[in-house]
Amino acid sequence: MLASTLRRSVKKNNFTVTLRTFCCTTQYKGLKYDNCNFEVKEYGVGLVTINRPKALNALCDALYQDLHDIITKMDKDEKIGAIVLTGSDRAFAAGADIKEMSDKIYPATYSTDMLAWWENIAKVRTPTIAAVNGFALGGGCELAMMCDIILAGDKAQFGQPEIKLGTIPGMGGSQRFTRAVGKARAMEMILTGDFMKADEACTRGLVSRVVPSEELVDDALKTAKKIAGMSRPIALLAKEAVNAAFETTLDTGLRFERRLFHSTFATQDQKEGMSAFSEKRTPAWKHK
Ligand code: CAA
Repeated sequence: MLASTLRRSVKKNNFTVTLRTFCCTTQYKGLKYDNCNFEVKEYGVGLVTINRPKALNALCDALYQDLHDIITKMDKDEKIGAIVLTGSDRAFAAGADIKEMSDKIYPATYSTDMLAWWENIAKVRTPTIAAVNGFALGGGCELAMMCDIILAGDKAQFGQPEIKLGTIPGMGGSQRFTRAVGKARAMEMILTGDFMKADEACTRGLVSRVVPSEELVDDALKTAKKIAGMSRPIALLAKEAVNAAFETTLDTGLRFERRLFHSTFATQDQKEGMSAFSEKRTPAWKHK
């Protein structure tokens, strides 16, 4: 459903009552993509489903344009507090599009900085969840790793099999996969092209949880709803703090975290959250 929450306040018996109504928001009206579907849930969650079944959701350039367009729109939408990215039961995405890439020549790959644009997905500020069923290979695995949380269906398989094509990961696999599972296992996977099953991916910390595949998207939406129910600016700060752990030394990271922590005391939502705790009630976030 393309919907957004509108809040209207009315005075009733000296109490202000906030009414929530739902309506289509103009930025999504009439939008349709060839390679993905999307929904905006009334509880502040965007759901994007990669839809290129004939090629197991292989990530061609047109698919990137579609994903980037809708995810950027959702990221800018203040009513959306979390985004779920998923694929089909068979494949989250089976990698960059091999047929589209195969004839490229080096000067063009270099001068266009081929595939660099995918990093824009990792730069989204809204918390993102990849809900992975089936294959997440090559660029598909890399796309999942650009999200903040990966939830896996029990039949999911992850891998960086580029070596079997005579190439190597090009959308972050050698870096993010290694940070997620450690050097030895990442080396083995990237040098053999073998796949990793969901359970192992969970044990090694690549994915947050494994759930039955048929429950995966609902589970991801539930998790996203929980995140979207928090104060938006505070969730963004929390995300920024965690991400700093991958970019800095421990000392710099700890100082950065503390500064962000201090900055939460400049928000109305910190006051509201702590008052609500003392008053034993649910906080009413102002997102300010
Ligand atoms: N690119 C383009 N087309 C792809 C594709 C890809 N990455 N993966 C699958 N397809 C296509 C197949 O060509 C096939 O199309 P046709 O029916 O027209 O032949 C269709 O999807 C179905 O695939 P299969 O018949 O191969 O299905 P399968 O169940 O037998 O095998 C699979 C599934 C193991 C995932 C196999 O398709 C496969 O190995 N795919 C390639 C995986 C891969 O190497 N990914 C890395 C790509 S390179 C990359 O991603 C670089 C990077 O770092 C960015």
